[in-house]
Parts: sequence; structure tokens; C-alpha cells
Amino acid sequence: MSTETTSGQVSGNGASGNQSLTVTDNRTGKTFELPITDGTVKAMDFRQMKAADDDFGLMTYDPAFTNTASCRSAVTFIDGDAGILEYRGYPIEQLAEKSTYVEVAYLLIHGELPTQPQLDKWVHDITVHTFVHENVKSFMQGFRHDAHPMGMLCGSVGALSTFYPDANDIKDPINRNIQTIRLLAKMPTLAAFAYRHGMGQPYVYPDNDLDYPGNFLNMMYKMTELKYQPDPRLARALDILFILHADHEQNCSTSAVRSVGSSQVDPYSAVTAGIAALYGPLHGGANEAVLRMLQRIGSKDKVREFIDGVKAGNEKLMGFGHRVYKNFDPRATIIKKAVDDVFEVTGVNPLLEIALELEKIALEDEYFVSRKLYPNVDFYSGLIYEALGLPTSMFPVMFAIPRTSGWVAQWLEMVQDPEQKIARPRQIYTGDRTRDYVGMGSR
Ligand code: SDX
Repeated sequence: MSTETTSGQVSGNGASGNQSLTVTDNRTGKTFELPITDGTVKAMDFRQMKAADDDFGLMTYDPAFTNTASCRSAVTFIDGDAGILEYRGYPIEQLAEKSTYVEVAYLLIHGELPTQPQLDKWVHDITVHTFVHENVKSFMQGFRHDAHPMGMLCGSVGALSTFYPDANDIKDPINRNIQTIRLLAKMPTLAAFAYRHGMGQPYVYPDNDLDYPGNFLNMMYKMTELKYQPDPRLARALDILFILHADHEQNCSTSAVRSVGSSQVDPYSAVTAGIAALYGPLHGGANEAVLRMLQRIGSKDKVREFIDGVKAGNEKLMGFGHRVYKNFDPRATIIKKAVDDVFEVTGVNPLLEIALELEKIALEDEYFVSRKLYPNVDFYSGLIYEALGLPTSMFPVMFAIPRTSGWVAQWLEMVQDPEQKIARPRQIYTGDRTRDYVGMGSR
């Protein structure tokens, strides 16, 4: 029994009754029967509807793909109305409480929770691939001292494709697996190198004795001590954030990875497209924008004035709203709890008071309620990153690290999907036609 959801359709035998649309083209009086499959109709079924024999046929028009399913996927399920998020069918709440990011990455990529031997091998393979080629360091030195770390991550991940030219062989499952391991293993290293570059500090090499989040903290914050000892409470908070950010079905950046990957380019280049999309302030850059917004508001008593400005259309309430969630983003609810755990270690961030006041006022205000605008994953995450001592420019990088597992899982699904081929949308042409060239003297 399939259930209809707001974010997408669950495949299944669907409701009872005739699973088809009857469409009459009033231009010709012709009637067509379009089958309904998994709550969708095929866009190509409209091409048969022509006003004349030499007519191209009808297309569907859907700017920003607000109502278009681009693929079949078994990786992540979201029900936006109910605020449900599941990775391979496991509720995000249970994974955040009981799992680790590395185990969740295995689940997303392989489809099942690993056995202990599988997890041990997975952790070992990732651990021994955390180093990057020494040339990557000199490549990174080429960036300005104040280069945005997302720009550095984009450049350095794209550069990885030149260090592994065999990655182009995307049809070979063994090759796909080693590139998957490398991407998961090296993303924290490149992210930390970008941070250290901005701080003017020497790069810190991976420490294979530490777990995934602990090693990342080591590469970020190790100074003169012989061995960095990550605070387990901060490492766990980071691990939970990584779990929450791992995948989110066909979001903007994942859609970019799938589209670029559909040309059969290597996975490093496809993931680079995802990093570039995530960089945008409406997507992964929102957590950085939230902190800057809170800093700009400055105090709790200025919140009402700010909200009035948002309602007047002067700006958006960053960290609020979502294309799919028309209820609380379940990740925001979990992050809000993790904030308290982190603040026990680091002390309370005064911006939290402003964020709580913003949330309180917005959730009672008709403007936000009528538009179903609730806090999303980015609203509170920045407070944790700031408490960890990260500059706001690193916040989208913290999103890119774990989202790598989702991008790779979706890329693997796409390259093995027999229904997929190179992505190439159509257009509605609005420009001039057949104009004669005009010489310079006559322009
Ligand atoms: C992520 O897709 C994913 O899954 C993304 C993500 C993931 O895990 O990959 O969940 C991560 O990107 C979360 C979203 C982070 N972005 C932000 O917090 C930026 C602020 N949010 C908005 O820009 C917006 O809500 C979007 C981009 C998230 C969603 O935009 P939509 O679906 O295109 O909605 P819309 O812009 O059509 O908004 C509908 C209405 C509009 O008002 P009206 O034209 O009807 O008057 O709501 C308003 C918008 O102006 N609106 C907001 C608002 N978000 C929407 N008004 C004020 N503040 C906001 N944040």
C-alpha cells in the first residue's frame, strides 16, 4: 500500500481504482489515457499531444523542478507535512541517538547497517585513506590568505580528480568503491587544511588513532601538544551533526551531483558540483547566513524590529523555511538538543537567546505560520559551530563534509540506474528568431 507524501511518492501498488489520467487536448478534441505510476505521470507521455502533425508535441514546464521527480531513489525518505526523515528507512531520530556518522555513511551507500566485520573494514579503509597527496598542500597554498574555505574545498576536491585519473572508469564497481572511500576519507582533511590555511597555521596530518569526528577536530585544532585529545562530548556533538547532514533526497546540491554525474564524469568532479551548489546562501550557506543575521540583530530586544523587516519583504529569516518541510525540520529539533550538550562544555553563546526569541516570535506570527515556515537544519547548527570556535565561513564546509556520503550514495544509485541517461532539460524559447547580421556601421 503506497502512501502519498508531500515531498515525493512512495512506490507501491497505490490506491484502488483506475491508475490513469484521461486527458483531452481541446485544440484537437483528442483524448489520451496516461498511466499513473507511483503517483506520477511520465512527462514524455505528453509529447504525443500535438496541435498539428509537424508539432513537436507538449512538454511540461516546471522551473526549479518544484513538482518534478527526476529519479527513483531508495536512499532517503522525507514526508514534509509530517516532518519525517528516514535514511534507508531508519528514522533520523534513532540514527542520531544510536549510530555514528561513519556507520550512517555505510548505511546510505550500501543500503544496510553493517555487521561488525563490515564496519571494522569500512572504518579501516576510511582511516587509511585520510592523507592527501603532498602536492594538494602546495595547491592550497596558492589561494589568497582570506580565501573562503568553500571555494578552497571546491577547488581542491575538483583537483583530486587529477590525482586519480582512473576514477573516470565509473562502470567498474571496484573502482567506484575506492573512489567512494577516498572521498569520504579526504573531505575532512581538505576541510581542515582550508581552515588552517585561513588561520595561517601549519596543516595537521590525520591521526589514525582517532575516530572520524575526533580526527577532524585534531586536524583543525592541534597546536604544539604531541597528541591532540578531542573532548568526547564535542566529538559526539559533531558526529550527531554529521549524521543529520548526511543526506536529504533530491536537494539542490544532490541534484547537481546527479546532473553532472550523468555525463559519466568522475565522482570527484560530480561532488565538486555539489559543493558549489551547497555554497549558496539559500542552501548550505544558510547556516553561515544565520549567524551573520543573529550578529546583525545584536540583542533580544531588536528581534521584533527585525521580524517586521522580514515581513515587509526586506530580507529572509535565514534558517527558516524549506521546499519540502512544511512542519518542523526533524533535524532542527535534534540539533536544538545538541546545542545544550555543547554549551555545557563551551559555555552558552549569547546569540542563542536571540535565536530562541526569533523562533518564539516567528512561530506565533501569521506571516510565518501561513507560509508554513519553521526552523530548518541550518537555524541552530551555526550556534554549535561557533561554540566549537569555527569562523562562520567554515559553517557550509561543516555541511559539505557529511553531505559527501549522501552525494556519493545518490551518485552510485544514479550510475547504476538503467532509467538514467545524460541530463538535458528542454526550454521555452523566448528570444528573437532568424535575424540577418547587421554590420557595425548600421548598428
Ligand atoms: C537547506 O532542499 C533541501 O533539502 C535543502 C536542505 C538539505 O538538507 O539539503 O534541507 C538544506 O538548504 C535548508 C534551507 C536553508 N536555507 C535557508 O534557511 C534560507 C532561507 N530559506 C528560504 O530561502 C526558503 O525557505 C527556501 C529556499 C529554503 C525554500 O524556498 P522555496 O521552497 O522556494 O519557498 P519560496 O521561496 O517559494 O517561499 C514561499 C513563501 C514566499 O513568500 P510569498 O512569495 O508567498 O509572499 O515564503 C517566503 C517567500 O518569500 N519565505 C520566507 C522564507 N522562506 C520562504 N520569508 C521569510 N524568510 C524565509 N526564510
